[in-house]
Amino acid sequence: MRPQRDRLARLLLPLALAGCAAPTARHEPAAAESVKPGINEPFLDPDLDVARFVERFEGESREVFAAREDIVAAIGLLPGQDVVDVGAGTGPFEGFLADAVGSEGKVYAVDIAPRFVEHVARRVEEEGHPQVEARLCSETSIELP
Ligand SMILES: C[S@@+](CC[C@H](N)C(=O)[O-])C[C@H]1O[C@@H](n2cnc3c(N)ncnc32)[C@H](O)[C@@H]1O
Repeated sequence: MRPQRDRLARLLLPLALAGCAAPTARHEPAAAESVKPGINEPFLDPDLDVARFVERFEGESREVFAAREDIVAAIGLLPGQDVVDVGAGTGPFEGFLADAVGSEGKVYAVDIAPRFVEHVARRVEEEGHPQVEARLCSETSIELP
């Protein structure tokens, strides 16, 4: 037991020290410039072909899609909580998030792509998840209080 505890302490100590360190530099806001300019252009297209992206994002061969249930479980959401899915895309996580927070909770599915937001709004209505609200946001703000 004790060696295990010592090992854990050794692993956590640097983290604790890092967390306690006095700030040496002023915190700057996140850089406004994209690290990959143009990456979001397809999503901002008002004529975006949603079906093409459903096919691309929602295939079992996509690791994050296949693991979506485990990912949501790992968050440890509780009934009644509010959660924001930033960059919800075509909405593959919303059903699991809705089930996790239950009817008393709230899921905000935000995205910069107007066509995805319309698609998710329709999808959650069809799937019977009234606690999910699809909302348009901007690249620099999730537009939520
Ligand atoms: C690769 S897709 C992933 C979609 C979904 N989360 C999934 O795993 O299937 C990235 C999504 O993030 C959105 N996005 C990109 N930049 C964003 C930003 N700054 N704020 C909110 N959404 C953003 C895009 O429009 C796109 O729908």
